[in-house]
Amino acid sequence: MERKSILSVKDLTISFNTFEGEVNAVRGVTFDLEEGETLALVGESGSGKSVSTKAITQLLPKRNTTISKGEIWYHDQDLLKTSSKDMKKIRGKDIAMIFQDPMTSLNPTLTVGRQIAEPLIEHQAMSKQAAKTEAISLMKKVGIIGAEQRFQQYPHQFSGGMRQRVMIAIALACHPKILIADEPTTALDVTIQAQIIDLLKELQAEFDTSTIFITHDLGVVANIADRVAVMYAGRIVEIGTVDEIFYNPKHPYTWGLLASMPTMKMEREDLYTIPGSPPNLLNVPTGDPFASRNMYALEIDFQEEPQMFKVSDTHYAATWLLHPNAPEIEVPDEIKRRNERFATILATKGE
Ligand SMILES: Nc1ncnc2c1ncn2[C@@H]1O[C@H](COP(=O)(O)OP(=O)(O)OP(=O)(O)O)[C@@H](O)[C@H]1O
Ligand SMILES: [Mg+2]
Repeated sequence: MERKSILSVKDLTISFNTFEGEVNAVRGVTFDLEEGETLALVGESGSGKSVSTKAITQLLPKRNTTISKGEIWYHDQDLLKTSSKDMKKIRGKDIAMIFQDPMTSLNPTLTVGRQIAEPLIEHQAMSKQAAKTEAISLMKKVGIIGAEQRFQQYPHQFSGGMRQRVMIAIALACHPKILIADEPTTALDVTIQAQIIDLLKELQAEFDTSTIFITHDLGVVANIADRVAVMYAGRIVEIGTVDEIFYNPKHPYTWGLLASMPTMKMEREDLYTIPGSPPNLLNVPTGDPFASRNMYALEIDFQEEPQMFKVSDTHYAATWLLHPNAPEIEVPDEIKRRNERFATILATKGE
């Protein structure tokens, strides 16, 4: 099916000026978000997931951030060149965000109701009364029981899961075109996590929101994503449909990542461990930054960073193993076995 892109990130390159030097956090990230899809961003801690997505709505600290290259197209504007005044209008109305810890995003001194109603008044030009009615209906929609009473309450009177529901209500209040969810369930316990994921799935179907979903839980990815982008050391190293990434991964990093990540339901023992650790982004090594951890690394991996090789129209991976002259290497059995657990999730998806 031919799909239209709603957001187009091109060659995004971001560094931070720190005491130790220049941290090369994002090194040429390119991807499209298609209309109505959920794109999952995965990768070890520090791979640049949050930084890449924060750039979209200009949430990076001005003080020490340098965006040296790149474009982020939303309709006919480059969001990197949008004034902070215009970005304020886009944020919340067109592009909404949910983060891991709702307590830091909510204002502790304002009632929850007011915080849900505010964007409706600001972006939708609703009257105070209309905004209140709409806010209460949103609270009900995200599963907050006793919404009329709870409208008057403050964030600290809500549990973690309920606060995240409030954040979702705020995010969806203005029917944004794009939702960026950065580990929205990480801080919650497992049962609540599952409820929030189901809620997000439902709302996404209802509003047809295009979503970027960052998570460390590959069970969640298998469950909700249409496509997956795998990040490593500030780059996307593999991107494809959820089936391509889970059933036919091409990058050795993706093999290891899939086998090493716990799922919501899976016991943690028997997980694979990728040897070594991600490179220091102050001093990105020559060649493929994954080379020193890659048991299939070729000589060229230590000399030149691979560009994306095409696997299918929707599937690309940046590994020299895809070069026509590279030796043919199969996904190791040990890795395959651990990745089989995703098959049931993929098979029962959408039921
Ligand atoms: N404000 C900042 N100043 C300096 N370095 C930063 C800043 N923000 C992020 N970084 C660095 O940029 C790199 C990418 O960070 P980012 O937060 O995007 O990782 P992530 O993939 O979201 O990881 P996690 O899974 O832990 O959330 C890391 O090395 C991080 O330390
Ligand atoms: Mg992050």
